[in-house]
Amino acid sequence: MANERTYIMVKPDGVDRGLVGDIISRFEKRGYKLVALKLKLASEELLREHYADLAGKPFFNGLVAFIGSGPVACMVWEGKDVVKTGRRMLGETDPLKSLPGSIRGDYAIDLGRNVCHGSDSVESANKEIKLWFNEDELVNWNASLYK
Ligand code: TYD
Repeated sequence: MANERTYIMVKPDGVDRGLVGDIISRFEKRGYKLVALKLKLASEELLREHYADLAGKPFFNGLVAFIGSGPVACMVWEGKDVVKTGRRMLGETDPLKSLPGSIRGDYAIDLGRNVCHGSDSVESANKEIKLWFNEDELVNWNASLYK
């Protein structure tokens, strides 16, 4: 769907390493439309909700602590098949399994420091966008790319 949306978040390691601009640029150049953007220090409560599906995993507490350890750059991108394509642009969860050319394949080697989050389905994208953004932070505008 042309107006499909995904939630992309540069994690604290990516922000600290100055990768926010590059990641935004990749989505812009690919042809996606930015509809929301902010820097945020996430609360533990928000992160526990965001990663609720992983609550039983042994790495859960460490993951929540890490993502809460510094600012994250939160964004919503819109465009054709953006959820699946965004995941391909990110690479695999494990950076060592990610192809060069992908974000994780270009910038990471550690599973727990994989630079960037991207929604894994349209359903989780809708849930994550609601969790991280208020409705009035989502900007409606016409990108000429779509004409
Ligand atoms: P997951 O949702 O499985 O992957 P993805 O981010 O690709 O959707 O896991 C969430 C994050 O948890 C993942 O990006 C990195 C971290 N993680 C670990 O630290 N150890 C692990 O064994 C796994 C599977 C994930």
